[in-house]
Amino acid sequence: MATKEFPLVPEHVEKIKTPHRTIATAIPVPESVELLKKMRETEPRSMGGQPPVIWDHGEGFTISDPYGNTWIDFSSGVLVTSSGHGRKEIVDAIAGMAHHGMYHAYCFPTRIRAELVEELQATIPEPLRRVFLLTTGSEATECCIKLARTQGLAKGGKEKSVLVTFHNAFHGRTMGAQLAGGGAGLKGWLGDLDPRFVQVPFPDGFRQPDTGFHVFEKTLSDLGVRPEHVCGVMSETFQGCNAALMPAEYAQALRRWCDTHGALLIFDEIQAAFGRTGKLFGFQHLGVVPDLVACGKGISGGMPLAAVIGTDEVMNLYGPGEMTSTHSANPICAAAALANLRVIKKEGLIENAAKLSGVLKAGAERIAAAAKGRVGACRSVGLVAAVQFTKPGTTEADAELAWEVVYRAYQRGVMLFAPVGVAGCAIKICPPLVIHEAGLQEGLDVLESIVREVA
Ligand SMILES: Cc1ncc(COP(=O)(O)O)c(C=O)c1O
Repeated sequence: MATKEFPLVPEHVEKIKTPHRTIATAIPVPESVELLKKMRETEPRSMGGQPPVIWDHGEGFTISDPYGNTWIDFSSGVLVTSSGHGRKEIVDAIAGMAHHGMYHAYCFPTRIRAELVEELQATIPEPLRRVFLLTTGSEATECCIKLARTQGLAKGGKEKSVLVTFHNAFHGRTMGAQLAGGGAGLKGWLGDLDPRFVQVPFPDGFRQPDTGFHVFEKTLSDLGVRPEHVCGVMSETFQGCNAALMPAEYAQALRRWCDTHGALLIFDEIQAAFGRTGKLFGFQHLGVVPDLVACGKGISGGMPLAAVIGTDEVMNLYGPGEMTSTHSANPICAAAALANLRVIKKEGLIENAAKLSGVLKAGAERIAAAAKGRVGACRSVGLVAAVQFTKPGTTEADAELAWEVVYRAYQRGVMLFAPVGVAGCAIKICPPLVIHEAGLQEGLDVLESIVREVA
C-alpha cells in the first residue's frame, strides 16, 4: 500500500523550545519547499512518503534541519542509527579508513574485514560460527533463502524446496524477499506466485489470536505442504509491522519441528539484532538458536552493511568465489560497523534498551488508552513499539488516523517515519538506543497528547 504523501504547504505551527526539540519556523519550512518539490519531480514517487524535513545533521537521539529545527528522533532512520546520530567514533572510523586509502577491496582480504568478522563471531552462540558480510538486508535474506534451498536440494532432492514464512512478514524488496514476505499487497508485481514459498499465520495474539504451534502444522497441512518438502522456515524474531515477539514456546516448538524435518530455522534479525530488543539478538528472548541469522540496519549504525551468520555446514555449501558480492564488507562500511558495535558495548546500549523498555511499554499503552478504542494492538519489546490504529472492535486498519499522528508529531518536534504494517495502520516508536528516560518520556508525552486530540 502506498503511503499518503505529506503536503508541501507551510503551516504556522506552535513554536517549541525544549532541551530536545526546537520548532522555530512554519512547517514544512518555506525555504525548503522548492528543493522538496524538485525532489518530487525528479525521483520516483516511491522515494516520497516521509515527513518533508530536510535531514541536515543529527546528534544522539535528535535530528535537525538546516533552518534551526530539531526533532526527537523516534525513527532511527529506519531502526538503523542505534548508537545515535553523528557519533564521533563512527565518523572517525569512516574518515580514518578513507584517509588510509582504502574504500573498496571486493573480496580481496582486508584487515578491517577480519576484525569485524572476529568481533561478530565473538558474540554469537554455538553452533553459529561463520559470518558473511553483505550490503543490504534484502541481500542477506536472499542469501538465506538460497542457502536453505541449496541445502534442501542436497539433502532431500528438488522436492525439498519449500520455504515457509509468515503472514505480514517483511524480508525486503527484491524478488525472493517479496516471495517470502507475507504482505499480499507487495506481491502483485510477482504475477503467478511460486508454490514453493508459503506463508502461515504469525502468532501475534491480535490478527492471529491462537498463538499455539498447532496452527503452523495445520496451516501447512491445509496448504498441502508435506513437512519433508520444507527446506527452511524464516521469520522475524519480532514482526517489524507490529513489534510482536514470537512467543518463546512457539519458537521452541518450531525449532524441534525444523530439527525433525531437516529444515533450516532462519531468523531475520535485520531490525532486531544488536540491542534493539534489550538483548544482543532477538532470538535470545526465545530460548532457541537458529541455523541462520540475517542482520542489517543496526549492525553498522548507518552505513550499508549486512551479514548472514550461520553454522559451518550451511555457510560452506558454496565453494570459493561462488557466494560473493561486489561490495561485500566494503572497508569503510566495515570500519563504521566495528566502531558502532564497540560503542554499543562500551556504552551499555543493550542494557539501556532493556532498562527503558518499561518506560516505552507504559508510554505506548498510554497512547493506546488515549485513542479511546481506536488502537487494536499495542506491542513493544526493548526500544521498539508499534501502535496499530484500527476501527473500534475490529482488526480493520485505520490508516488515516495513523497518518494524522505522524503528521502532527512532525509539526511538534517528534520524528516518526510514515505508518507501516497492515494497510499502513501502525506507528512505530524506535529511537536510537542512546536515548535517556527524559528524552523518551518527552516524545511519548507529545504522542499521547496528539492521540488524545485526534481520536
Ligand atoms: C525485517 C526486515 N528484513 C529485511 C529488510 C530489508 O532490508 P534492506 O532495506 O536493507 O534491504 C528490512 C527492511 O526494512 C526489514 O525490516
